[in-house]
Amino acid sequence: KRVAILISGSGSNMVRLVQDMQAGDHPARPVLVASNDPNAAGLAKAAALGVPTAAVDHRAFKGDRSAFEAALLQPLLDARPDILCLAGFMRILTPAFIERFEGRMINIHPSLLPKYPGLHTHARAIEAGDAEAGATVHEVTTDLDSGPILGQARVPVEPGDTPATLAARVLAREHQLYPLILRRFAAGARERFDI
Ligand code: GRF
Repeated sequence: KRVAILISGSGSNMVRLVQDMQAGDHPARPVLVASNDPNAAGLAKAAALGVPTAAVDHRAFKGDRSAFEAALLQPLLDARPDILCLAGFMRILTPAFIERFEGRMINIHPSLLPKYPGLHTHARAIEAGDAEAGATVHEVTTDLDSGPILGQARVPVEPGDTPATLAARVLAREHQLYPLILRRFAAGARERFDI
């Protein structure tokens, strides 16, 4: 299976996905890492791992989401991906874009969905006094952060946690969860698998 990964920033999840695919005995291989930010640090990490990269600056399209997506689709379709992974990708995709990849697009979200879709998930969990937090890998559908859940990883919320300390604890578990779920998804497994 050919996997394309969309990033917006550091790309730490992308690195783990690529390294796991490159470790061998994996049903998928990385064919493209693309970002909406030409300055995304993850682009250099992908290149260092030997994965082709592309950058389409969403700021060049001044809020015209469809025009941005049309530009992003160029390198994406050239890569002929079977699976599209969103990994720290911070742009909302239109239903038209999502429908092109429906059923073969997955995302990692830093909360225990359905709790806290959207942004600032760690601050919201702390504010709510939750005992646990975590990350969710789900299929991407046209409802934001609401597609079928493929797996979750949980962490304790510790007394005195800040959004930054909780984010670091969750991110470490994202790095375990996402590669595992991509292996399963690429092998055709769809039932939920929590770690
Ligand atoms: C992190 O907040 C992570 O929880 C979320 O996207 C952000 C950046 O991740 N999934 P990455 O380092 O770019 O993969």
